[in-house]
Amino acid sequence: MFEKITIDMKRRMKYLEKADSVDRADGTPRLKRLRQIPPETGKFIALLASNCPSGEFIEIGTSGGYSTMWISLACMERSTKLKTFEILPEKVKLARETFEQAKITEYVELIEGDALKYISSINEISFCFLDAEKEIYGECYDLVVPKLVKNGVLVADNAINHYETLKPMLEKALADSRVDSLVVPIGKGELVCRKR
Ligand SMILES: C[S@@+](CC[C@H](N)C(=O)[O-])C[C@H]1O[C@@H](n2cnc3c(N)ncnc32)[C@H](O)[C@@H]1O
Repeated sequence: MFEKITIDMKRRMKYLEKADSVDRADGTPRLKRLRQIPPETGKFIALLASNCPSGEFIEIGTSGGYSTMWISLACMERSTKLKTFEILPEKVKLARETFEQAKITEYVELIEGDALKYISSINEISFCFLDAEKEIYGECYDLVVPKLVKNGVLVADNAINHYETLKPMLEKALADSRVDSLVVPIGKGELVCRKR
């Protein structure tokens, strides 16, 4: 699958990786920062997504579209389209630029607005990557898990570096009889839940 990363994608990935590291170093205000996943997390979520059953692929928290590019590799393999949600207009603009420059628009539908307003209208979720403000993780979890198809997967970022904030949601997920779940120590820590 990783052989599908084109020169256009690679170029845009490098551009966003540089912009993200500059953001982290120069004190850019939090809401303006890209706050992207690292490449190893990108590979991890692409691998997980590529093996999911049929159904909808969604992403909550697009930012500049970096993680979306990784998930799009799984979409290419499976000829499916990812719905990705972003609430901030300036990030939406940047993400659109990403999808055009990386030439992946046929695999991505970018929805501008609050993901919480849309999730309830999506059924049969096969893969969900959750990477938004940590305060909404609990609500997203409660909306997404009932809609996961059997063997569908929810991955939530920041399970280790934001452990304290996410603790109620993590404890709930790890004890939830609807899913098999664990926290994987890759990147910032990924909660992985697969529907029973
Ligand atoms: C950590 S960043 C996402 C990084 C991105 N997944 C990546 O790795 O390239 C979180 C993003 O979620 C967006 N966001 C926060 N709350 C949201 C909501 N309720 N609906 C949609 N997007 C939201 C933020 O504006 C921000 O751009």
